[in-house]
Amino acid sequence: MKPIAGKRILICGKGGSGKSTIVVLMADVLQKKGYDTLVLDGDASNPEGLIRLMFGMGVNNEPKPLLEFFGGINVVTCPVDDPLPLTRINDSVPVLEKRIDITREISSEYYIKKRGVSLFQAGKIETYGQGCDGPIEKVVRDFMVQGEWVSLIDMKAGIEHFGRKIPDTMDIILVVLDPTLESVSIAKRIKGFCRKTEMKNFWFVLNKISSNEMESIMMEKLGELKSRVIGSVSYDPELVQRELAGGSLTIGNRYKDIEQIIKGLEKFVSDNKHVS
Ligand SMILES: Nc1ncnc2c1ncn2[C@@H]1O[C@H](COP(=O)(O)OP(=O)(O)OP(=O)(O)O)[C@@H](O)[C@H]1O
Ligand SMILES: [Mg+2]
Repeated sequence: MKPIAGKRILICGKGGSGKSTIVVLMADVLQKKGYDTLVLDGDASNPEGLIRLMFGMGVNNEPKPLLEFFGGINVVTCPVDDPLPLTRINDSVPVLEKRIDITREISSEYYIKKRGVSLFQAGKIETYGQGCDGPIEKVVRDFMVQGEWVSLIDMKAGIEHFGRKIPDTMDIILVVLDPTLESVSIAKRIKGFCRKTEMKNFWFVLNKISSNEMESIMMEKLGELKSRVIGSVSYDPELVQRELAGGSLTIGNRYKDIEQIIKGLEKFVSDNKHVS
């Protein structure tokens, strides 16, 4: 089995730091490296950001939200008020105990596929007054699948999901840091959360780094946390242009940057040093 096969990787960080971009690029490289890869859009408040980055503009067959698979907004509860694990409709065994068999249980309306990568959506805020996105985050927490799938989970900006204990079911947490003090603050806060919960497998990805000097400044600002930096992704104007043009992203010139991150994760998982 390949080192990070079967792992669930949560990608989080400050707004606009590049979470969705990193998810799409990682999915591309993982797939090229032979991993069965799925992407879960866990950002309920961004209607089409990730889908557009993966598939380009004008996708008219958006995947059905997984929230529906679990019974919909009237059935799935808030993970804070009711932390009990999710179950399938008409089945009392928690998904955590009996993981979902994608090929047998999930119909094709729940995902769209491109270049071997499948995109799922946890759910979106669709209507005025719908309520908070807690139930959608519960789907993120508990959508655990059988087999060797690597799950890349794109989260909403900020740290609210830590308040809801969503990372409890994750194998790896990747925090995307753009070169801002706000990202440094978020890194420190997340480190505090991870220490408290004994989650050891959390890493920082520096993104939008335009020079060695900028990387050094970020490292200096991170202080002792710099040992947690697993990789650095250069600022790439091509990514900005593709986003603005509404085109799907491909790995292009960032292959080495992203491969370095994946190799880092593979190494740590193989060494079994930091796996929770
Ligand atoms: N390495 C990079 N080089 C240049 N631009 C980048 C890079 N990574 C991301 N961007 C740009 O930054 C912007 C935000 O990226 P993205 O949507 O991936 O961020 P996000 O963290 O997912 O945002 P949100 O918090 O809204 O979900 C986009 O314009 C994207 O093209
Ligand atoms: Mg995003």
